[in-house]
Amino acid sequence: MSLLDVRQLNVRFATPDGTVAAVNDLSFALNPGESLGIVGESGSGKSQTAFALMGLLAKNGTASGMVDYGGVNLLALDEAELNRRRGVEITMIYQDPMTSLNPYLTIGEQLMEVLRFHKHMDKSAAFAESLRMLDAVKIAESTRRMSMYPHEFSGGMRQRVVIAMALLCRPKLLIADEPTTALDVTVQAQILQLLQDLRRDFQTAIIMITHDLGVVAGICDRVLVMYAGRMMEEGAAQDIFAQPSHPYTRGLLQAVPCLDASHGEQYLATIPGNPPNVLALPPGCPFAPRCVERFDACLRPAPLQRFAVDRQRACHRTTTELGVVA
Ligand SMILES: Nc1ncnc2c1ncn2[C@@H]1O[C@H](COP(=O)(O)OP(=O)(O)OP(=O)(O)O)[C@@H](O)[C@H]1O
Ligand SMILES: [Mg+2]
Repeated sequence: MSLLDVRQLNVRFATPDGTVAAVNDLSFALNPGESLGIVGESGSGKSQTAFALMGLLAKNGTASGMVDYGGVNLLALDEAELNRRRGVEITMIYQDPMTSLNPYLTIGEQLMEVLRFHKHMDKSAAFAESLRMLDAVKIAESTRRMSMYPHEFSGGMRQRVVIAMALLCRPKLLIADEPTTALDVTVQAQILQLLQDLRRDFQTAIIMITHDLGVVAGICDRVLVMYAGRMMEEGAAQDIFAQPSHPYTRGLLQAVPCLDASHGEQYLATIPGNPPNVLALPPGCPFAPRCVERFDACLRPAPLQRFAVDRQRACHRTTTELGVVA
């Protein structure tokens, strides 16, 4: 049975200029311990999908549809019931670790607070468990670090602390929103490795939100590609990397930076054109204005279609036309 079953999720924001349709009819499921990458350019609706699941949308936002978690629709829960799950069963980490850390409290105080509040542990049990978790995220000299403040840690160490904090209550689902974007490449690789190890050790399902397909390749079983708040393509990570079936996914894959040996420089191809204005989306496929494969049919919406076991895509071009061997 799925851990999480998202059906027809829609997120709308009321703004003075009109309604922003940030997420549109998004459906996906996640099994226990599975990792799903949600990828797409800036503004594609990745973070708002996560915020909707967590019940953390901005005040002008509303979510509709169904988010089934253990037989309960998270979208229908009141604040008190959400709080009982948030930070315990479902936790989220953000791009900037300082979003989750209080600069005025020591790391130890913050970790122990989580356990005392959610797990009602006494002080010594909370201390012991916090230490254990700092060790698990490979923070050396954990006892000494407990009494230090966030500013005394490097960016990579802070993100480790945030991961420790997110895992303290042994959540079933961890949502990581660009957790390594602010870190340099070496530290980024270490954090991704750490997440992978922790997923294995704690059997935590992970939703990894990123614009970087390299991150997804390293850590995710499945990939969901979003554009303009819609699912463009979804399937097993290895299939999507081997045979991207949507022109947008192809564009994203070509945009992954690669080191050119002859020049010793990094080249970054980008998809020509800009991400769409969500207040004025074209009537058909939202990607059509930028798509190299577009033809007449693209003026009509492209419904999601399953074209192989466990793979779906929203494109009028047939897989044969795109040279995909399904
Ligand atoms: N409070 C808000 N009011 C109006 N529009 C909003 C609000 N929050 C987000 N949006 C819009 O919702 C859309 C999706 O935003 P989202 O934050 O999910 O993007 P994203 O895919 O996470 O992008 P990024 O990679 O830049 O983080 C964007 O067009 C954004 O401008
Ligand atoms: Mg975002």
